[in-house]
Amino acid sequence: MKFKDYHIAQILKSSIDGLGWKRPTDIQYKAIQPILDGEDVLAIAQTGTGKTASFVVPTLHAIHQELLTRQDDHYTKCLVMVPTRELAVQIAEVYQHVGSNTNARIQAIIGGVDQEAQIESLKKGVDVVISTPGRLFDLCSQGYLKLDRLNTLVLDEADHMLDLGFVKDIRDLMRHIPQQRQTLFFSATIDKKIKKVAYDLVRNAIRIQISPKNPVAKNISHSVVEVDMDDKRFFLENIVKENEDKKILVFVRTQVRADRVVKAMERAGIESAAIHGGVDQEKRFELFESFKSGALKLLITTDIAARGIDIPGVHAVVNYDLPEQPENYVHRVGRTGRGQEKGWAIAFCSEHEQPLLKAIETYTGYEIQPYELNKGEYSAIIEDTDDGTDDWRSLLEEEEKRSGKKNEW
Ligand code: CDP
Ligand code: MG
Repeated sequence: MKFKDYHIAQILKSSIDGLGWKRPTDIQYKAIQPILDGEDVLAIAQTGTGKTASFVVPTLHAIHQELLTRQDDHYTKCLVMVPTRELAVQIAEVYQHVGSNTNARIQAIIGGVDQEAQIESLKKGVDVVISTPGRLFDLCSQGYLKLDRLNTLVLDEADHMLDLGFVKDIRDLMRHIPQQRQTLFFSATIDKKIKKVAYDLVRNAIRIQISPKNPVAKNISHSVVEVDMDDKRFFLENIVKENEDKKILVFVRTQVRADRVVKAMERAGIESAAIHGGVDQEKRFELFESFKSGALKLLITTDIAARGIDIPGVHAVVNYDLPEQPENYVHRVGRTGRGQEKGWAIAFCSEHEQPLLKAIETYTGYEIQPYELNKGEYSAIIEDTDDGTDDWRSLLEEEEKRSGKKNEW
């Protein structure tokens, strides 16, 4: 099957061709037709397997068809809900690319940036809205965004959108939109409880699952190394220096730790930057772009960047700290090894993180290969640092005293 064989508008086929996509991926093959047929769909497929286009292509086709007969009726026909602003912008870009030859109007509605431009665009009429909950409700309650004629609701990263932090927002949203609508759920992970929540929101969802037993993308190799909390920075320095010019994405537990890792790298002469909830939104976008282009090679982040982000050529994902929720391991490592690319994931596991490692292994169903280091190799990594600070431990202690907080590295 090729994209050109689908019963979709020719102008969509030509932009798909322009993107270099010839054949649908497995999930696209299974999901596009039922969505074109108007079915509700719950689709679970591994990270980086093309879930975005699985809903972008059929929803754009329907919008394009409608615009052929009702040219100037630009009401919100399709709403895509996502957990982060970066993901909203990324999905809006995929809609823009695939829909570049159509008259469909596409707008990301997200917080952290000026709302005026978004309001202007809504006033003119928008066909597809891609949104994070906060700004969406703001603009709904201010009367700028009307969802009373919505045809399709998409929840990307659906398990997360239906989990505790977001589910109330989603239930509130249901009150703004027509009961007769198409609902689509996409994610790499889902559990029984969340599946039930999803089914309660729809009429008869078709369930589509690719590799249900193994949520982890198959082209990623995994390893774990036992590292003392205090030594993690030296191990990161070592990995960065051994993989010069490669893009590396590093996940840490908290915002504070992200900033500290950046400082530690700086002392070792390595350029890096941090993205987390405490960073100004414009700066967040800027850093993402620069990581995407490759100008920035080392990006330190929290779980904010764990889901959905599609950046080409991420050589390695480092779990500097292990994630508290095992499914986040799947999402974090899924930032590497996307599409046909190979990926490498390495986790730094301190003694007290062992239970988190076990939880990840139970969740994914297999053991992560330990990266064996003998004592000599371990100390060589620590001694080999370019950290200009001779006495960094006393520096840390000083900072602990100043901040009154225990430092962990
Ligand atoms: O959402 P998911 O993690 O499954 O992946 P995605 O964000 O949709 O990313 C899929 C990547 O594969 C993107 O970089 C697409 O450009 C590319 N791709 C695709 O989506 N479909 C194809 N038929 C071929 C490539
Ligand atoms: Mg995705």
